[in-house]
Amino acid sequence: MTPHNEAKKGDYAEAVLLPGDPLRAEWIADTFLDDARQVNSVRNCLGYTGYWHGNPVSVQATGMGQPSTAIYVHELLNVYGAKTLIRVGTCGGLTTSVKVRDIVLGISASTDSAMNNAPFAPYSYAPFADFDLLRSAVKYAESQMLQHHVGGLVSSDTFYVDDPATSYDVLARHGVLAVEMEASTLYTLAARFKARALAICTVSDCLVTGKEIDAEKRQSSLRTMVEMALSIAGR
Ligand code: HPA
Repeated sequence: MTPHNEAKKGDYAEAVLLPGDPLRAEWIADTFLDDARQVNSVRNCLGYTGYWHGNPVSVQATGMGQPSTAIYVHELLNVYGAKTLIRVGTCGGLTTSVKVRDIVLGISASTDSAMNNAPFAPYSYAPFADFDLLRSAVKYAESQMLQHHVGGLVSSDTFYVDDPATSYDVLARHGVLAVEMEASTLYTLAARFKARALAICTVSDCLVTGKEIDAEKRQSSLRTMVEMALSIAGR
């Protein structure tokens, strides 16, 4: 037990999917897992453990943003023995080549957060995905012919930026494909605690064109993304 999690040691599988939204965690458990049981409800940040194709797997909501995500990730790695963490979320595309509904696999995650400043001073740490997970995700995407991109993410602390079309220009010019709010601390903590992590993000909107995913397509895209995450989680 922790201040944020009522689960006991052993309640989580080694592989954990990490959506931001607690209701998405519940949906993933209900839709994809066999014999799912709820292991956490503290602050309604729901967590479940069940089986996928006979393999144990958990899903834990992180809430939005890096401070919240860091709490759940730190405890999953430190207290509950998680070894493979896969974020399943949405992101905003930063270039016109990244279309709504595409999948972005984050090879790295820049950030405007101060969370890594003090721990890494004088360096500017470059948080990165686990190579084997990333390779498995790419293979899966290719085998299913899914529209996908491998590139940089930026984990921003600010959702409502002044000028969405231009705020991330310098990053887009340096290969950053999409903005979200959690991957950077996920990658940092996974490296710190010798675990594997990957952020898989469905593009829900494009900051350059203003296009947004519609509700029905959002659901089928989320389904595709979760199937990808579950398929690579045990490998
Ligand atoms: N900003 C941050 N996170 C996001 C966005 C965005 O525009 N779209 C989807 N997740």
